[in-house]
Order: sequence, then structure tokens, then C-alpha cells
Amino acid sequence: MTAAAFRSVMRRFPTGVTIVTTLLDGKPKGFTANAFCSVSVEPPMVLVCVNRQARTHPLISTAAKFCVNILQYEQRELAERFATKGPADPFDTVDYSVAHTGAPVLAGVLAYLDCELAEEHSAGTHTVFIGSVLACGSAEGAPLGYFDAAYRDFGCRIQ
Ligand SMILES: Cc1cc2nc3c(=O)[nH]c(=O)nc-3n(C[C@H](O)[C@H](O)[C@H](O)COP(=O)(O)O)c2cc1C
Repeated sequence: MTAAAFRSVMRRFPTGVTIVTTLLDGKPKGFTANAFCSVSVEPPMVLVCVNRQARTHPLISTAAKFCVNILQYEQRELAERFATKGPADPFDTVDYSVAHTGAPVLAGVLAYLDCELAEEHSAGTHTVFIGSVLACGSAEGAPLGYFDAAYRDFGCRIQ
């Protein structure tokens, strides 16, 4: 078993693309993530897996809240910006509103899930953050997809 073999398998699993946001001391922060899934419906819970090297990691842990923003196909550029560890703050140039917990909901997303942190589990290089969903919303549109290390159009755009 090698890391390369593992990566090549995981590259064959298509996903959507999200930006996971949080708010600490009045400052928004977020990063691009696709290790996201539903955990439970009643009560509603979701999980995100976050690398402990991510700058957002300690902020989610401390703020104890996060919002999963599911991106529309047209928001690829946002995904790229929030996946870049540069000095620029993507929140300087993005419109957002504030969810129930105070975490940012990015303008124009396909859907969002606003969560209170319920559980934290360390696994390998990552932490699994499990959130209780306190508020959510969705819109019509087509998702941004990710497959084989590339952004994709999954062909479910509304004609
Ligand atoms: C499509 C895509 C999906 C990603 N998914 C995750 C993920 O699920 N968890 C994670 O920790 N990093 C993920 N990353 C990497 C982070 O977005 C990247 O490391 C980011 O720079 C972290 O930002 P931060 O250090 O400012 O928090 C993903 C990157 C891309 C392009």
C-alpha cells in the first residue's frame, strides 16, 4: 500500500467543491474543501476533514462553528482563490452575508449548511470536524465538480 496508489484511487471519486468558512474575533476565514459529507439527517449533522496544517484549522476549533458553502459551476475562480495559501485575503473581494452562527455565507452559492461544532476527531494528518446543522439554504443551479484532480462540469446544468 502506497500513498500514490491511495491518491490514484481517491482521484476516481467525483465530488462537489465547497468553501468551508468560519468567523473568529469578527474576522472571516475560509478554505476550499471537498472532504465533506452528510452524517445524519435527524439530527442533521455533516462532517469536514481538515488538514491540521490549514490555517483555518485552529480557527474552526476555537470558534466552534463552520459553514459549508457548496459552489456553483460558475464559482470555480472562488475555489481556486480559497485554495491558495497566499498573503491576499479572499474575503477582501468576495460578497457574503452572515449565517445564524455568524460564519460567512458566500454570495451566489448553490447551497450552504451553517454548523455548530459538535465533535472533533483526529485521524492521520487531518481532523474530522462534525457539525450540527443549525441553518441551511439552497438555490437552483449547477454544481462545480472535481474529479481526477481537475474541476469539472458534471453535466447537470439546467438548460
Ligand atoms: C478541490 C480542492 C479540495 C480540497 N479539499 C480539502 C479538504 O477537504 N480538506 C483540507 O484540509 N484541504 C483541502 N484542500 C486544500 C486547501 O484548500 C488548501 O490547503 C488551502 O490553502 C488551505 O487554506 P488555509 O491554510 O488558508 O486554511 C483542497 C483543495 C482543493 C483545490
